[in-house]
Parts: sequence; structure tokens; C-alpha cells
Amino acid sequence: MCTVTGAASGIGRALAFALAEHGAQLALSDVDAEGLGATAEQARQLGAETVHADVVDVAQRAEVQDWADATAERFGRVNLVINNAGVALTASVDEMEWADFEWIMGVNFWGVAHGTKSFLPHLRRADPAHGAHVVNVSSSFGLFGMPLRSAYSATKYAVRGFSESLRNELRREGSGIGVTTAYPGGIKTAIVRNSRAARGTDRTEVAAVHDTLAKTSPEIAARAILTGVRRGRTRVCVGLDAKVMDLGTRLLGSAFEPVVHASIERARSKVVRSSARAL
Ligand SMILES: NC(=O)c1ccc[n+]([C@@H]2O[C@H](COP(=O)([O-])OP(=O)(O)OC[C@H]3O[C@@H](n4cnc5c(N)ncnc54)[C@H](O)[C@@H]3O)[C@@H](O)[C@H]2O)c1
Repeated sequence: MCTVTGAASGIGRALAFALAEHGAQLALSDVDAEGLGATAEQARQLGAETVHADVVDVAQRAEVQDWADATAERFGRVNLVINNAGVALTASVDEMEWADFEWIMGVNFWGVAHGTKSFLPHLRRADPAHGAHVVNVSSSFGLFGMPLRSAYSATKYAVRGFSESLRNELRREGSGIGVTTAYPGGIKTAIVRNSRAARGTDRTEVAAVHDTLAKTSPEIAARAILTGVRRGRTRVCVGLDAKVMDLGTRLLGSAFEPVVHASIERARSKVVRSSARAL
């Protein structure tokens, strides 16, 4: 059986659908009850054996712990835990509000830590024939510190470090539990539209730049992540942009930074030109 957080939208919803098509038993959660209900309904139609959908705020440790225990009890086993829920924040370090910084840490980092720690004892009890695996969703911004995304990048680097340490702990103890960290590049979802930003930010422009840069559909992202799990990959870079980011940072180090700046600037100019034409 498989659990997915942030299943009401985007990558989480696409993961739920892809698992449903394989007849999986699903425990889905999100803070968005309406979106979650729609995902659950469609997952049933797509062939999921069982679907339980619960409103859970991943930033709240007790809520995640209760959900994990209830899920293990309902299904009798837990095999795949996908900590996917996440939010975005566009703000310079100077302008960022502490409350927004804490909010994003709560969802993107603590959410992953809560999900991992709460489900780990249940994964340890999984039947090895059905596997036991954790997927933590980081980002290509967990490979490169993006300007105006310091808090987001910090959460995604934290997810990377936390997940790599966990994997090495489990490997050292000879546990059969796998850990995959996913590094999506730009994925065509509502994440930026749902995000927070510093006062005075042109949110429409930020969303339009994301839409210009995001080349991968959530369905392709979900397929890449689940293929990575099946093949026992420790890291999955999703989309060509994430693969370029991974290689660029490793081969060029900080010399890669101007390349990223130039590509953001190109996308921004394209957005400005097309909004000028629309006037
Ligand atoms: N879209 C991208 O370009 C992109 C790139 C890299 C990484 N990611 C990561 O992929 C994951 C999924 O993002 P997405 O693009 O599908 O975004 P999305 O906005 O479409 O979906 C995110 C989901 O998380 C839910 N969520 C938000 N706060 C929550 C909370 N406190 N508790 C439970 N659920 C909560 C939202 O309601 C939403 O349904 C995130 O971790 C994100 O950081 C996305």
C-alpha cells in the first residue's frame, strides 16, 4: 500500500493516479479537502483497490503521526511512503517575512521529517515481498541555490541531507527499506500560483516565468519518480532542466551560476515582451 501527501494537486495527484492505474491501495492526504476528494474519486475510477483520503497538515507533527498510525491499522501494512506536499515562497533574504520563512520550513522540511519518522516504524514491519520505500520530494532548487528562493532552496537542501543520511543509516544497518530523493525541475503545476511572495512582488509575472520555464507535465514527473523507485534509484532528477542543473553544478560549481541567471533572464524577458504585446 502507498501513501502520498499533497495529493490534491500537481505531482501528488499525478502520483496517486499512476499508482491507482496499477491497482494500488492508497492513503492520500492534503490540506485541500475539495481537491483531495476529487483526486480520491478519480483514483477509484482509475482502478485503485482501496482509497482513503484524509485532511492532514504535514506541518503538524501530531496530525501526521495520527494519520500514519491510522493508515497502518486500516491497511495492515505500509510499503511506499511519498512525502510530496510542498509550497513555494518568492522573496529576497532582505524582504522575506519571518512568518513566511517559518511557514515554508514547516511544510517543506518538517512535513518531510514528520512523514518519514511517523511511517518508518510501519515500513520496518512491511512484508519484504511487497517492498518498503520512502520517497522524499526535494527540487532542482535543492541542487542549486536559486535567487529569491533562499527559504525554498534551504528546505529542499534540508530534504536532500535528511534523506541521504536516512538512506545511509538504513544501508548500514542492512535494512531493506529503500530511500529515493526526487529532484524535479520545472513542472507544470499550480505551485507558484498557490505560493507566497514578498510584498510588492508581481505574482502574475513570477507565475508566468515559472510557466515559461516549466517544461515537464506532472504525469511525466510521477512516472519518472515511480520508475526510479522500481529501479531502486537513490536520486531521480525529473526533467531535462533538473538533469542539466545536476550536471552543471557538479561539473562547474559556482561557474554554473551565470548560466542559470541568463536562463531566468531570458524567460523573464519573454514574459515581459508577451505581456507588452497583450496590452
Ligand atoms: N512544480 C514544480 O516546478 C516543482 C519543482 C520542484 C519540486 N517541486 C515539489 O514538488 C512537490 C509537489 O508540488 P507541486 O508542484 O505538485 O505543487 P501543487 O501546488 O500543485 O501541489 C502541492 C500540494 O501540497 C498541498 N499542501 C500545501 N501545504 C500543505 C500542508 N501544510 N499539508 C499538506 N498538504 C499541503 C497543496 O494543497 C497541494 O495540493 C512539492 O514538494 C514541490 O516543492 C515542484
